[in-house]
Amino acid sequence: MEVLLEITQAELADFIEISNNLYGVDFSGYAQESLRRRVLRLMKLKECDTFAAFKYFLANQKLTDNELLNEITVNTTEMFRDPEVFKFLKEEVFDIMETYPRINIWHAGCSTGEEPLSLAILLKEHGLLKRSVQYCTDINSEVLAQAKKGIYELREMKEYSTNYIRSGGEQSLSDYYVANYGNVKMNKGLGKSMVYTKHSLVNGSSFNQMHMIMCRNVFIYLTTEQQNKVLRLFLDSLSPRGYLILGAKESAVFSTVFNELETVNGRLKIYRKKK
Ligand SMILES: C[S@@+](CC[C@H](N)C(=O)[O-])C[C@H]1O[C@@H](n2cnc3c(N)ncnc32)[C@H](O)[C@@H]1O
Repeated sequence: MEVLLEITQAELADFIEISNNLYGVDFSGYAQESLRRRVLRLMKLKECDTFAAFKYFLANQKLTDNELLNEITVNTTEMFRDPEVFKFLKEEVFDIMETYPRINIWHAGCSTGEEPLSLAILLKEHGLLKRSVQYCTDINSEVLAQAKKGIYELREMKEYSTNYIRSGGEQSLSDYYVANYGNVKMNKGLGKSMVYTKHSLVNGSSFNQMHMIMCRNVFIYLTTEQQNKVLRLFLDSLSPRGYLILGAKESAVFSTVFNELETVNGRLKIYRKKK
């Protein structure tokens, strides 16, 4: 018979404390309900029927900090995710960026690197890649290591190619990779603009003079209070008139810092820092 797992608020708080103290991972700013679901999922995976058993498991450091992150956070990503966003950037934003001698872009919570690569392809087609630096950060060093390799599954490429075209891509996506036994290796040139750094949006410091920050599908996992703190960090990191792009289900509109932003395209969640 399957045991129905449940955990109390106090146990969840216990989990947050253990993760912080033993694994150095701070989940205090994460939305409780999704965090609770992920903890229950991990308990089931590790065959812990009670929170006491799970606590014992964690306390004996049976996991690495990356394993803990892999199980608790969601790393799902795609190339050219929400193609309309990329099309808008290409058609409405790149021409403005063309006037900058150097273009600084921060992909916060970049996971395995599909988003930075998508942007790199469009920047290249616009003649902007050589003067761009894409700072790719994530709390999980394992996904960053995968991003650096630039190897993806061939079977994903059909959908990515469709979305590349929908994003306004001018060539064939296959021009940007070499296929080999079910995998593809993205062309090295695309990665030249990228700098990969482990960084947490919960307790990390700001960056300097970013012209664009893409942080998509990370906010949904954070509490409103934490989202406000992260938006503050982004505003401190953006240069005047710098762009901020959030995920489809996210918004900056109800945040405490919205008066410092203007909406460029509300539907696509594209904002700009006021002067
Ligand atoms: C769902 S993925 C989004 C990937 C990509 N931005 C996209 O939209 O396709 C969320 C990523 O956020 C990262 N993440 C979660 N908490 C974070 C934090 N506190 N600081 C930085 N990255 C975090 C996860 O490791 C994961 O790779």
